Amino acid sequence: MLRTTRLHRDFAVEVHGVDLRSLTPTDGYPEIRALFEHHSLLLFRGQQLDDEGHLAFGALFGPIEDRSMGRNGAKPRMDNVSNKIGENAISAPDDFHTLNLIGNQLWHTDSTFLPVPALANILAARVLSSTGGETEFVSTRAAWRDMPEDLKAQVRNAVFRHRASHSRSKINAELAKLEKFTKWPDQTWKALWRNPVTGEDALYIASHVCAIEGMAEAEGTALIDRLTAFCTTDDRIYTHAWQQGDVVIWDERATMHRGRPWPYNEERTLASICVSVQARDGLAETRG
Ligand code: OGA
Ligand code: MN
Repeated sequence: MLRTTRLHRDFAVEVHGVDLRSLTPTDGYPEIRALFEHHSLLLFRGQQLDDEGHLAFGALFGPIEDRSMGRNGAKPRMDNVSNKIGENAISAPDDFHTLNLIGNQLWHTDSTFLPVPALANILAARVLSSTGGETEFVSTRAAWRDMPEDLKAQVRNAVFRHRASHSRSKINAELAKLEKFTKWPDQTWKALWRNPVTGEDALYIASHVCAIEGMAEAEGTALIDRLTAFCTTDDRIYTHAWQQGDVVIWDERATMHRGRPWPYNEERTLASICVSVQARDGLAETRG
């Protein structure tokens, strides 16, 4: 039995006594996968994962997402969330690279705009800023459970339209025009993702939602804003203050997250991979 301690009333646990390098599909992984399904966020401290170990841990959960999507046949690789852009260079506060990172400061879940979205994101601390740079999380499963019925009734059967350029347009109009944000056709997903293991519903919502199907645009985005506000009140937030050795994995189907600002003249680097959803994770059932 793994020992866990709660990080938040609603979700999120720290898992003790695991070296993530030691897991195999049949030894260690099944127990961790069960914790992931039930608690939506797992923190492992004091880890020593290099990129290879990080990719191997992710591969236990499913196929590693290819974020560039242009490298057909290429081996999956690590994608750092970082403002480091060269050997000795930090991206300027107002350039597109930094603005995209600032886009992560809007409440979201990752890759909802991809034809196959993400099941999980796995971040590992690499270089931390002297202050700030926390990552905040909420459970959209707990939020759905707690939502008043009149609000639930408005979205229970709704389908949301997701577009990468939509979230980036909230940061900067020119940023949103970059090909990497416009190249995907809109994706539509049901408002609720039902976890096939636990049977629990979670609101599947992100900064990328640009419309609710069958609703006037302004009405749809106003409702999305209302839902997001309900999900992200202070009491629902787990704030993760990064330490060296931390590895965090979260369930993209049942949470939202956002980055917090840091001094942009300092390097902040987290090693990052997403794992794609597979049929067994509820993909077909959630497609809108
Ligand atoms: C991400 C993300 C926030 C952060 O990696 O998907 O949103 O704190 N990160 O860097
Ligand atoms: Mn993200």
